[in-house]
Amino acid sequence: MTSGQIRESYIKFFEGRGHIKIEPAPLVLENDPTTLFTSAGMQPLIPYLKGEPHPKGKRLVDIQPSLRLQDIEEVGDASHTTFFEMLGNWSLGDYFKKEQLSWCWEFFTKELGLEAERLYVSVFEGTKEVPKDTESAEVWKSLGVPEERIFYYGVDKNWWSRSGTPEAMPEGEIGGPDSEVFFEFEDVKHDKKFGEECHPNCQCGRFMEIGNSVFIQYEKKEDGTLSELPQKNVDFGGGLERMAAVVNGYSDVFLTDVYEPAIKAIEKKTGVDYASSEENAIDFRVIADHL
Ligand code: GLY
Repeated sequence: MTSGQIRESYIKFFEGRGHIKIEPAPLVLENDPTTLFTSAGMQPLIPYLKGEPHPKGKRLVDIQPSLRLQDIEEVGDASHTTFFEMLGNWSLGDYFKKEQLSWCWEFFTKELGLEAERLYVSVFEGTKEVPKDTESAEVWKSLGVPEERIFYYGVDKNWWSRSGTPEAMPEGEIGGPDSEVFFEFEDVKHDKKFGEECHPNCQCGRFMEIGNSVFIQYEKKEDGTLSELPQKNVDFGGGLERMAAVVNGYSDVFLTDVYEPAIKAIEKKTGVDYASSEENAIDFRVIADHL
């Protein structure tokens, strides 16, 4: 499947489930001084996630070019890029966990045809303020994900806001617990440099995160606590380049058709093969990402 086919299939899948396609926002948002660049599909939708009615309704879908400079030091490995296209679907106070996780599973296993046995999921383990997300775990189990492929993580991994953990969220920022899907590359061996045991959030390259369903239902208050938003939202974000990698059996996003022209151009200019060594590959990825 090409990246173009994935884009088309995602939009069609969610349009078929009552979503309206919206136009992506520019990379530099007008009237939003909070970040230099649009860093997620949810960013232009913040007023609507907070409760303002969206003119196109409660179910939206789009593909948002996003730039995350906070990831710049990670660029050079096989999965991180600063720029990417985020496939996104939203429920603005409409459907919630059951529908979202079921559709997410259906999209990955049926539309993209990923082998269910290679998919792992994570859910939020809870804090004093926010309960453990047993509801999402139950939905995953009902879809056939066995208990041993469901992992619980805390605020560092399974909480999403633009600023990270609840503690780091400034007043007025919205966020919530999330549930991620990971693809396992059986042929990539665990590297103990990244920890004794491998697990879905390990950075050794055996697992690649391909989608994140965020349940945006909290807003940070002035006194540092979280308050419930007037509505429970779904904010799904999945990287197109990563989906294009896993669907074609690549554990490296720079092997996809998205990056092929840049990689080929660098090979031509330098006379060096991308695959000649891991050291060269790192340089290629940095240049390709920055291009
Ligand atoms: N907004 C969800 C994500 O960026 O993962």
